[in-house]
Amino acid sequence: MFDRFIPRINWRNILALFFAFPILPIGAQTSEEKADALLKRMTLTEKIGQMVQINDFNGEIPEHVREAIRAGKIGSMLNEVEVETSLELQRLAREESRLGIPLIMARDVIHGFRTVFPIPLAQAASWEPDLIRKGAAVAAREAAQAGYHWTFAPMMDVTRDPRWGRIAEGFGEDPFLASQMAAAMVKGFQGDDLADPHTIAACAKHFVGYGAAEGGRDYDRAIIPDHMLRNVFLPPFRAAVDAGVATVMTSFNEINGIPASGHVKILREILKKEWGFEGFVVSDWESTKEMIAHGYCEDMRDVARKSARAGVDMEMQSSAYGDHLEALVRGGEIPEALIDDAARRILKIKFDLGLFENPSPYRIAPPRPPLAADLALARESALKSLVLLENSGILPLSPSLKSLAVIGPMADDPYEMLGTWNRDGLPEESITPLAGIRNLVGESVSIHYAPGLDFSRDKNRSGFEAAVAAAQSAEVVLFFAGEESILSGEAHSRAYLDLPGAQNELLEALAATGKPVVLIIMAGRPLVVGNLLDKTAALLYAWHPGTMGGPAIADVLFGKEAPSGKLTITFPKAEGQIPVYYAHKNTGRPPHSRKLTMMDDIPRRAYQSSLGDASRYLDIGYLPQYPFGYGLNYTRFEYGDLKLTSAVLKPGETLTVSATIRNSGKRDGAEIVQLYIRDLVGSLTRPVRELKGFQKINLKAGESRQVSFELRPAQLGFYNGDEQYVVEPGRFQVWIAPDAQSGLMGEFELLPGS
Ligand code: GLC
Repeated sequence: MFDRFIPRINWRNILALFFAFPILPIGAQTSEEKADALLKRMTLTEKIGQMVQINDFNGEIPEHVREAIRAGKIGSMLNEVEVETSLELQRLAREESRLGIPLIMARDVIHGFRTVFPIPLAQAASWEPDLIRKGAAVAAREAAQAGYHWTFAPMMDVTRDPRWGRIAEGFGEDPFLASQMAAAMVKGFQGDDLADPHTIAACAKHFVGYGAAEGGRDYDRAIIPDHMLRNVFLPPFRAAVDAGVATVMTSFNEINGIPASGHVKILREILKKEWGFEGFVVSDWESTKEMIAHGYCEDMRDVARKSARAGVDMEMQSSAYGDHLEALVRGGEIPEALIDDAARRILKIKFDLGLFENPSPYRIAPPRPPLAADLALARESALKSLVLLENSGILPLSPSLKSLAVIGPMADDPYEMLGTWNRDGLPEESITPLAGIRNLVGESVSIHYAPGLDFSRDKNRSGFEAAVAAAQSAEVVLFFAGEESILSGEAHSRAYLDLPGAQNELLEALAATGKPVVLIIMAGRPLVVGNLLDKTAALLYAWHPGTMGGPAIADVLFGKEAPSGKLTITFPKAEGQIPVYYAHKNTGRPPHSRKLTMMDDIPRRAYQSSLGDASRYLDIGYLPQYPFGYGLNYTRFEYGDLKLTSAVLKPGETLTVSATIRNSGKRDGAEIVQLYIRDLVGSLTRPVRELKGFQKINLKAGESRQVSFELRPAQLGFYNGDEQYVVEPGRFQVWIAPDAQSGLMGEFELLPGS
């Protein structure tokens, strides 16, 4: 009779909670303590269950999945998009399994969730880590609200090969810059408290060396000397670990003959032991199983054995762990202690996320349209990712402009501007460049729009006539060209880096009208553009700029905003120049003169060594199309008055390097000032330049400012052939520069004893 007074309590939940935690000692337990206490109560089957991640199954929950969850054999799911399904899965885990351990629900939230930000390679061009952090925080809030606890981002693979489609997902070629961006994105996703319902666990991926894929072919081998692994590919992951990243994902590639998911040295020795990583390692999609195809594992039993030994804590999608791990442990081939360690790491993150306290996934609700404030941030991010590469002076467009032709397959395509790895952004919510321009100019400028081609690979020229007519009736032509988003991203390497389809031909037709053409390229990678420049009056690189790309591009074209982005990836003159990057070695025969003999200058029957022996190409020389750190703006910045506080740097001391930057143009502007060093002599040869700092400053027209950087001996070191971090005395050059190819140079000596 008292029932009606007693609120319906789910006693199973209460009991599960009670058993999940022993009577709390005074003061709350740490996640580690909670994980240890729970682990002691788990069977081997249940521990292994935490190490199993499955993908969504499109629709009804299959009975075998229900059974597996009830038996505690599944610990995580990825890509479940249905709210009701997600809630039911969690209910099964919480109420119908023996210990009620919640599932951790994952999603690829790479550059935004519902509000789509520019692709990471574009965001990096802002050189503003804090802006990247804010964007990730928006993505985390939106994803968490939709029921996800964990994203498979940031991707921080350093790469120097634009043929590789996943260049779009990372931060470019430089380990120092990528480290800053990776740490910022981790902090954005995770905030200060993973239990905060607006934060989600991040994932440093893909560990490691994925961006060094031979030939730029995705999934291909990476041959990386240990010192290069330490100096180039590992630093961003170290920065992510130091920033507290909750998880790390292994990469598909082999490193020097051993696939990452079976690589004891990188996972157990470096990541977990040397760096003290306390989160958990998840394999990439079936990357464990793929060790059979690699020729590293005999069968799935061998896969389970080698992955577990290497330190993969959770297996994504393939079933080696679920099918074979228990037998391997019972057979004594895998110590149960390895399983305990893996399960403990996973449980710790689930406790950190507060999943046990929260009976359902984070306040799950159907995704909602972007908030105005989030769209404003996405617009700022898109604006600051734009890189102006050429400008005859036609930009910003004249305020007296009366007619404009907007041409090209990328001018009004709301889907393509969202870029690769967009999962939850809606094209109908993105504003295209055409729409952005129309919104900005209203009736003040007559817009003649003709796509000319339906999509970037389109070879059908039937739209050319209308496009040329539109150009002829306008004062200026804006040609929006580039790549559909499918042409970059995973498994989308390209051997040619040209404008696909008939875009080159369309550009020629537009240029033939004699009207000035402003080329805006939207792509997921650097393209080879040298052959386009004689047909264009300006080149603005807009990447895949996300939901608010259109307004950002319009603001820059019409001068409402000034471009400030700078490249974080070198642009090659030709595919044959790849890999080409700024932090290259000098070689024994560096090219001295920028004016080098070129193919057409070579006399016939020239004597073998008459052309000078230097490391360069006869047909394109040695300089890239555009260097790392390069980008124009609407004003002019002059660098002068380089100063070093001393000509020597003593152990334990600090050298301050400064220069005066002057905005000598007529417009206010933002400048990304870069600090580079060169170690002139080392126990291993060192790069001709290495980025060691950057500052983005805003200067009013005519304003000057002294910009200073501090250098300490520890920043001048590198990992040597024995993988020891060494700081070697000797002469150094130092630059304060606008990009990696120019700037003011000074010299100093690092004294012994550092
Ligand atoms: C993919 C990608 C990885 C992604 C995972 C889950 O193959 O390599 O970056 O997070 O599968 O979608």
